[in-house]
Amino acid sequence: MSTRTHEIADRIFRLSTLVPEAAPGGFTFNQFLVLADEPLLFHTGPRAMFPAVSEAIARLMPLERLRWIAFGHLESDECGAMNAFLAAAPHAQVAHGALGCMVSLDDLCDRAPRRLADGEVIDLGGKRVRHLDTPHVPHNWEARVLFEETTGTLFCGDLFTHTGDGPALTDSDIVGPALAGEDLFHYSALSPQTSATLRALAKLEPRTLAVMHGSSSAVRCGESLERLADAYAARLSTC
Ligand SMILES: [Fe+2]
Ligand SMILES: [Fe+2]
Repeated sequence: MSTRTHEIADRIFRLSTLVPEAAPGGFTFNQFLVLADEPLLFHTGPRAMFPAVSEAIARLMPLERLRWIAFGHLESDECGAMNAFLAAAPHAQVAHGALGCMVSLDDLCDRAPRRLADGEVIDLGGKRVRHLDTPHVPHNWEARVLFEETTGTLFCGDLFTHTGDGPALTDSDIVGPALAGEDLFHYSALSPQTSATLRALAKLEPRTLAVMHGSSSAVRCGESLERLADAYAARLSTC
């Protein structure tokens, strides 16, 4: 298992590990490293990927400098290795929404997490990340996204999940592949809030969509979020 690195925005690196057997055409598990005075990792990967992901980080910076660990929600690919990273980086701390901390992370983290209010910003020193609660979008009560304001990068987790081993950044449409991914995995918790949440994210006018499974996108980002919202609204209307 090897993890590739690619800079998708200024000092924001995608770490990508392909698991060929996870889906037809293969399936990528991506983490994102924000290089700043206080470096932040978005997604840890599952515990089994810790050796490969930590080795990839070490190619970019000393692992022990890691200050923040963040992720979209509680699942093993999002945060399975969080305690391994807490052990490897003595000043690191998990940062998540207050609800996720209360329900799960206060208990699961080996060091106490930082509780974030909806809209709260962490100034990383050279980068600024805004925490946004997105309950049940795409799934899980404690779901959230993170928006890096200096580059306009939206760390959107499982949103736009698609299969294959495409480029780190693609100019191609990602909405069609995302809907094919939805048809394959049925991973989204469709609710009346789904489309409204996606439209609110579009209003951020992100310049890069950092996608956890598949290629990231730096073109027509707001339009892609609106089109995804339209598609989920149509699906909900037929339920
Ligand atoms: Fe997930
Ligand atoms: Fe995921």
